[in-house]
This record gives sequence, structure tokens and C-alpha cells, in this order.
Amino acid sequence: MLHLSVVLGLLASSAFAQDLGVPLSWREFSNSRPLSQRITIAQTAINQITPQLNSATGEFNGLGYWQSGNVWSVMANQDHSAGTTVNEALVINNLNLVWGRWSNYDQYGYNDDAMWWATAAIYAYRAYGNSQMLSHAEQTWNHVTNYVVTAADAAAGRNPNKPSVAIQSTCNGKTMAGAVFWQPAATSNAINSITTGLYTALSGFLYEYTGNSTYLSAAELSATWIQQHQLNANDLVLDTTNADCSTSPSSWLFTYNSGKYIEALSVLYGVTGNDSWNTLMVNILNAAVKTTAWQGSNGVITEGASPSSDNDDVGFKAILIRGLHEAWERNPTYTALTTLIHSYGDVQYNALLELAANGSTYSSSWLGPPQAFTSWGQLAALDVMTANIDTN
Ligand SMILES: *[C@@H]1O[C@H](CO)[C@@H](O)[C@H](O)[C@H]1NC(C)=O
Ligand SMILES: *[C@@H]1O[C@H](CO)[C@@H](O)[C@H](O)[C@H]1NC(C)=O
Ligand SMILES: *[C@@H]1O[C@H](CO)[C@@H](O)[C@H](O)[C@H]1NC(C)=O
Repeated sequence: MLHLSVVLGLLASSAFAQDLGVPLSWREFSNSRPLSQRITIAQTAINQITPQLNSATGEFNGLGYWQSGNVWSVMANQDHSAGTTVNEALVINNLNLVWGRWSNYDQYGYNDDAMWWATAAIYAYRAYGNSQMLSHAEQTWNHVTNYVVTAADAAAGRNPNKPSVAIQSTCNGKTMAGAVFWQPAATSNAINSITTGLYTALSGFLYEYTGNSTYLSAAELSATWIQQHQLNANDLVLDTTNADCSTSPSSWLFTYNSGKYIEALSVLYGVTGNDSWNTLMVNILNAAVKTTAWQGSNGVITEGASPSSDNDDVGFKAILIRGLHEAWERNPTYTALTTLIHSYGDVQYNALLELAANGSTYSSSWLGPPQAFTSWGQLAALDVMTANIDTN
């Protein structure tokens, strides 16, 4: 029970480094619904989106490819949290179907797409212990690993799979080792936080489930790249630092970049017991739930509110909520942190149920008003419902 002693150590050493208090301006940060009702609310929300499944493709009508992968993720996580197997057959069959359709889950030539689906497979492995799921995740990991900047690549200024892309050895004096290219394409020099964060988290989970230290080394290297290159002065994760050191505008702040890194660091802390990762995670989490970049003083997330059409942003906020859920699971005795996660989760939950619900379907605008069902509104809500099974 390394975990417990590590948490106690953290409490002694760094829990008071910052104020994890819940802002009193947040809207309705508690909820008295019992566990059985929370499980039902979440599964009923899932049951509203499954009729949108295209059984030939394993994807859902009205969603992008990466977003469809995230429906399978939350369905597996629902069973994991609820202790059920209601979604198992659908999840396994479709993750196998899509695996057979696209090599390494990469339909469009994007490493992040491949890893959204590989991550669904790893959650399915966690929920059901199905070894095919672990195999899909490992094979995808090996594919994407071709596009990681190794220490040797950084020194040489080249990745062997991208011979025409010049890589700066360092940006702002920090090594580019650990960065993960967004695309396999030979000429693309784009590198971003979501691709690297997905790789970090996937590596951490694979280490957890296999004990193979190759995955741990990869997770640590890529976590370090994000830490050194992608944090702004307020502890939020920025979007892009390309191989030539050019960056996205500092105003590009999206929930999922911080959310995926919070998840990755939580897993890394869980598998290493290294306080440094948890302290970093807590700083980012505290910033993410309080920033004005994607929520007002009432705490309700406003990013990706798009009643009439889908876009990538609609799928982002679910990834932040999922990251908080992982942080909660990995820090069971860190009361100030779990109270903050619980409260933020309830703010979103209560907003969805009271302001954005039409029966058991939800608008992507969490402040409302309710509207007729959309696949993307439903997708965005599912992780809130499932996370709240635990964090409420
Ligand atoms: C560890 O994982 C890597 C990557 O999948 C693989 O190449 C290697 O064979 C594994 N090592 C062992 C001992 O299984
Ligand atoms: C813990 O992680 C930090 C990076 O955050 C690293 O510098 C340090 O060496 C790690 N400690 C151990 C004991 O592995
Ligand atoms: C609720 O959903 C139903 C069925 O999709 C739709 O007909 C109705 O207009 C929706 N209500 C509101 C207030 O949008």
C-alpha cells in the first residue's frame, strides 16, 4: 500500500502549498442523489446515444471519429465505476470492428485519433480484462512510438521516420525529447500537447497493466516534455510547440489539454508513487477548475457550447472531467483535493440536470437552454454523469 503512504507523505510535505478551497461563487456544488440513482442517470444517458451507432463503422452519427472513440471510452468507464457489464459486448465488439477497419486505429493520419481509440481499448481492458483490448493498445503505442522525438532524435535534429522535418534540439533551452508528432506524415512538423498527453497517459496505463519499464520511461519522458514546454504562467497547458519551436497563440487554452495531462500525471503518480508528479498535477488541476478561460464565476464550463452543429471543441470538456475523475481515484485520502473535484463535478452535474436537460438528453450548452437531442451534446455530458458515480 505504497499508495496510502505516499499520499500521507504528500499531505505532510506539500498539500498546503496552495489553496484548494472551493470558490463560494460556484453554482450548487453539492448533490444528494444516492449512488443507485447516479448509476441509472449515467447509464440512461448512454442509452440515448447508442441508437446513433452505425454498425458498419463502429462510429456514431453526428460525431467526429475521435469523438466516437470517446463514447466507447465512457461506456467502458461506466461499467468500471458502476461495477456492471451492461456495455461490455457493445464496447468490445466495436473496438474490435474498428481495429479491423483501420490499421492502428488511424483512419485519417493522426496520432491523436489513433490514441483516442487505443485509450478506449485500455479503459475496456481495465473494465473487462479482455486481452484483445490490451493488445490493440500496445500495438497502437508501438506505432505512435515511431513519431516520438527520442533523446537521440533531439540531438541529431531528425526523427528517422520524418527525414525531411528539422527538429530543434531544444526550444527555450529545454530538450525536445519526449514530444510526440501530431501526424505520421513525413512532412508535418506539428507537435502538440494532446498527442503527447495521450501518449503519456497511454504509456502510464500500459506500464500499470504490463509492468514493462519501456512504457514507464516513455511516460516520464513525455510528461517532462509537457512540463517543460507547455505550461503557461498560470499552470494551464498550452496547445502547440512545433519541431521548429514555433508555438500556438497563448490564448489557445482548451480544457482537454490540461485534462489529459491531469489524467496522465495521475496515472504516473499512481504507478510510481513519485510525489513530484502529483504536486504538478494538483497545481494544474486547481488552475483548471478555477480559470476564467472556460468558465464563469459560477464554475459551469462554457467551452464547446454549440447547440446547432458539432465541432471538435464540443468534445473537449469531457476530457477534463475524465482527468479529474482519474485524479480523484488516485488520491483517495487527499481530502482537500477530492472535495474540490467532488464540488466541481457537482457544479457541472447540477447544471446539466437542471439547466440543460430534456428528459435524459443534454445540450452541449451546460447553462442551457434544453433542446432536442444532439449526438455531440450527449457525448459532452456522458463523462460528467459517469464521473459523478464516484466523485459525488
Ligand atoms: C516491453 O514493451 C515493448 C513495447 O511494446 C516491447 O517491444 C518489449 O518487447 C516489451 N518487453 C518485454 C520484456 O515484454
Ligand atoms: C520523480 O519525478 C521527478 C520529475 O517530476 C524526477 O525528477 C525525479 O527523479 C523522480 N524521482 C524518483 C525517485 O524517481
Ligand atoms: C425535447 O426533445 C424532444 C424530442 O427530441 C423535442 O421534440 C422537444 O422539442 C425538446 N424540448 C425542448 C424544450 O427543446
